[in-house]
Amino acid sequence: MLSCIGYLSSVTSEGKGDALSHIMEQARRRNALDDVTGLLCEFDGNFLQFLEGEGDILAATFNRISHDTRHSGLIKIFDEPIAERGFPTWSMALISHNQITDDQALQIRRVRSLTLSPSSQAPHLADLNDFLKVFQMWN
Ligand SMILES: Cc1cc2nc3c(=O)[nH]c(=O)nc-3n(C[C@H](O)[C@H](O)[C@H](O)COP(=O)(O)O)c2cc1C
Repeated sequence: MLSCIGYLSSVTSEGKGDALSHIMEQARRRNALDDVTGLLCEFDGNFLQFLEGEGDILAATFNRISHDTRHSGLIKIFDEPIAERGFPTWSMALISHNQITDDQALQIRRVRSLTLSPSSQAPHLADLNDFLKVFQMWN
């Protein structure tokens, strides 16, 4: 089943500087083989990534990424079956912070503050779908 996983994480010292180009190279090579598509965005010392693909392969990809020491504190914000890909033409698009609109920046900060607070409820799914749509506008 085709699904989409989205997460936020914090860039570690190992993930700074040149590391990003290595991450992108690895991601694009593996994702092309695995038929995984998506978007990676670096923002305020955080990564935001959406990954799309078929069940087991997507889960294995996310599992590898979650153990990567170039980031830490992963928070899954989206994990849903999808009818079609939002980023069908990208093995992994890179969005840099200067490409983010004020609206997108606001959305990222909003979701981050919602999910980072241990006492808060997970944001309502409709909110997350809206969030995803904001990022699909890049496509
Ligand atoms: C922020 C971030 C995003 C990543 N995105 C992907 C990805 O989309 N696909 C992928 O296969 N690996 C991705 N990686 C790299 C994996 O964590 C892992 O290093 C890589 O898949 C191992 O590939 P290899 O076994 O071919 O060397 C990412 C790593 C980081 C830190």
